[in-house]
Amino acid sequence: MRISAEMATAINDQISYEASSANAYIAIGSWCERIGYDGSAAFFFEQAAEENGHMLKFIHYLNSVEAEAVIPAIEKPPSSFESLESIFQFGLKSEQTVTRAIYDLVDMAEKEKDRSTYSFLQWFITEQIEEETLFHTILQKFDLLGRDKLAVYQIDQSLASVRSQVMSKQTSQKQTYSK
Ligand code: FEO
Repeated sequence: MRISAEMATAINDQISYEASSANAYIAIGSWCERIGYDGSAAFFFEQAAEENGHMLKFIHYLNSVEAEAVIPAIEKPPSSFESLESIFQFGLKSEQTVTRAIYDLVDMAEKEKDRSTYSFLQWFITEQIEEETLFHTILQKFDLLGRDKLAVYQIDQSLASVRSQVMSKQTSQKQTYSK
């Protein structure tokens, strides 16, 4: 094994967080679909696919450094939610928790002088900035447009374009920083 046993355990914990996030986002997407929030349903199903992708990245990484990736059991997520705004608040909180967990892994890699894991984690730092910005931007819409039925409908319908705006802004910032 080319990383420490402690690091392998910590990354396996991260695999669990990513799996739980994916599951929670699928549950939210399903609730949205049932209620008729089509934009949000598509948004959360896509978000769930991203979390699944994150989980796989960690699994592949552990296997590549000859550690064992443990596929976790996942707790059943809630099946109903209070409002459209509350699910984005939930999403932001969940992303903030994941960001803190990633930073803890980075700290651990630094302490252990584990350059391989440190370098692997850099992608996740950028990814988490992007995800938090996305949820922040959507939550701002509730303050800007309001929370009545029409405003909520407009926010739901605008999500695909909010995602692509945030993503393209982040991509151009990444390009600027890398110049
Ligand atoms: Fe994989 Fe959005 O944290």
